[in-house]
Amino acid sequence: MRVLVTGATGLIGKELVKQCLKHQIKVNYLTTSKNKIEEKDNYKGFYWNPRQGEIDINAIRGVHAIIHLAGATIAKRWTSDYKTEILESRVLTGNLLFNTLHKNEHTVKHFISSSGVNVYPSDYNELYREDFKGIDNSFLGNVVVSWEEVADKFNHLNLKVSKIRTGMVLDKEEGALPQIIKPIKFGVGAALGSGKQWQSWIHIKDIAGIYLHVLTSNLEGTFNAVAPEPVTNSEMTKVLAKHLNKPLFLPNIPEFALKLILGEMATLLTSSQKVSSQKIEKTGFTFDYPTLNKAIQDIL
Ligand SMILES: NC(=O)c1ccc[n+]([C@@H]2O[C@H](COP(=O)([O-])OP(=O)(O)OC[C@H]3O[C@@H](n4cnc5c(N)ncnc54)[C@H](OP(=O)(O)O)[C@@H]3O)[C@@H](O)[C@H]2O)c1
Repeated sequence: MRVLVTGATGLIGKELVKQCLKHQIKVNYLTTSKNKIEEKDNYKGFYWNPRQGEIDINAIRGVHAIIHLAGATIAKRWTSDYKTEILESRVLTGNLLFNTLHKNEHTVKHFISSSGVNVYPSDYNELYREDFKGIDNSFLGNVVVSWEEVADKFNHLNLKVSKIRTGMVLDKEEGALPQIIKPIKFGVGAALGSGKQWQSWIHIKDIAGIYLHVLTSNLEGTFNAVAPEPVTNSEMTKVLAKHLNKPLFLPNIPEFALKLILGEMATLLTSSQKVSSQKIEKTGFTFDYPTLNKAIQDIL
């Protein structure tokens, strides 16, 4: 089998490529950086420039499924220009892939799109399953809606469509975790805001494993991709401090201070989504890292 991955050079993409190759699944990938292009039979890069509507259509040759991970990082200050980039880098890319399949002969049967748990309204009590209908009235909530709308368009091309609503991905080198542990390492760690907000996290190997499972089991629909045990921000801070052998003595950092420092982006830290992993587990997926303790022990 050959798949086309967008965003293959990013945090999730790199681990997914590793797992695909291990399972003899060949990978084509689209990249916006010509210097990231490699030319191996099982890992072949192709250039695209979604803003200009430019794509190398050789990328879809012999491909069974597309896994769409591309998107500008949300961990950069949300100026109004950058907010446009966050949205467009997901929507324009999806539309470009759609038009490419629409206009060309192809063998693609399955479109698997990344998505986010930020679609669920911030709440301390609700346990969110995939059939929950409400939408968070926030910038990211609206980004996810547009992102998933583009994915749904692939149904019109008679493809199976899957949307992977991902929580906070935990990895040693990249993503949120290195930033979260920095103050704790220096002995000045503290919970954020009320500390009661739920953080639905997932280990890097498990998120890549879910993409592979959805691909190889031909699953369609929406799936939450979070570990079975979400934790509050206070619990996460305590677990990290324990593993790093550091004290926690400071009071929580108040929400207004986070807003002063980060602006609207502070919602990334204070918004609360307790998300259920039951649906993907019922399809036969088992987590290697179901608890935060196990995940952090592996990562740190
Ligand atoms: N990591 C998380 O905690 C998390 C949580 C929820 C959802 N997600 C979503 O999962 C997807 C993958 O996440 P990730 O953490 O692996 O992201 P990442 O490390 O930031 O990588 C994303 C990749 O997208 C491509 N890209 C960046 N800006 C782009 C732009 N303006 N236009 C087109 N492509 C662009 C880049 O690939 P090239 O340089 O090769 O073009 C980059 O390597 C993202 O859509 C992200 O929003 C991630």
